[in-house]
Amino acid sequence: MRSCATPIWGRRWMPELALEVTDLVAGYVPDLPILHGVSLKVQRSAVTVIIGPNGAGKSTLIKAIAGLVPVSQGTIRQAGEDITHIRPDQMATHHIAYVPQSDNIFRNLTIGQNLDLALRRAKGEQAARRADLLAQFPALAGRLAEKAGALSGGQRQFLAVAMALATRPQLILMDEPSAGLAPKAVQEVLAQVRQLTQTGTTILLVEQNVTQALALADHCYILAEGRNQIDGKAADLLGDPVVADIYLGGKRMRAGA
Ligand SMILES: Nc1ncnc2c1ncn2[C@@H]1O[C@H](COP(=O)(O)OP(=O)(O)O)[C@@H](O)[C@H]1O
Ligand SMILES: [Mg+2]
Repeated sequence: MRSCATPIWGRRWMPELALEVTDLVAGYVPDLPILHGVSLKVQRSAVTVIIGPNGAGKSTLIKAIAGLVPVSQGTIRQAGEDITHIRPDQMATHHIAYVPQSDNIFRNLTIGQNLDLALRRAKGEQAARRADLLAQFPALAGRLAEKAGALSGGQRQFLAVAMALATRPQLILMDEPSAGLAPKAVQEVLAQVRQLTQTGTTILLVEQNVTQALALADHCYILAEGRNQIDGKAADLLGDPVVADIYLGGKRMRAGA
């Protein structure tokens, strides 16, 4: 165990990073990178949001961290440990969960079966963890025998998050959990995301609902064309006129473009 009380002379105390991505080059096809040297730092127990236009490489970045897209250069470190080339099946060992943008539940299985699938590796603890998840997501508890496909969009995202939590992750990678949801469901899902940090979970979130994402997150990275553009405290970016113009529909909306 590391000692957290040891002062380091001459260095300011810094909260431990949950994840640090440095100069990442990654893509689906060799020699055709989508990410051209992306860097990002994710503080523990915080919500870090990635925004940017369609095709910016947001999903690719999340998938590269999850080991689903090959990395050709750069590093991914989790709490100081190099996890650059992990396989997707090693994510649980590293206490990482990934909630993809779509197809993140099995619609033709019941809600209970979905949860049981997610809990299959929690040997000896399945019942306790299942009870915890159902206490956390009471809307699912009364509907365990129903097909997951019968859930509303928002409830499907709750099920996807519950399934991600089954492995007790320290870090959850979430790709646009509010995509395609009605405004009320967007609010509910994003509020749930914030709630997760209260138990110490770290969230790296991709979001298209920029204003709400900035209101919810601690830190924000803006990507475009596979590169870092701007990053900063989410609250600062929310008040930044350049960001407002480009990403919050400022002038363009006023001009009706
Ligand atoms: N499976 C894939 N194979 C090849 N290229 C892909 C694949 N998925 C995405 N891309 C390309 O990668 C680029 C970034 O896509 P993506 O990371 O999905 O963007 P974002 O999530 O920011 O909208 C796009 O040009 C897209 O066409
Ligand atoms: Mg995407």
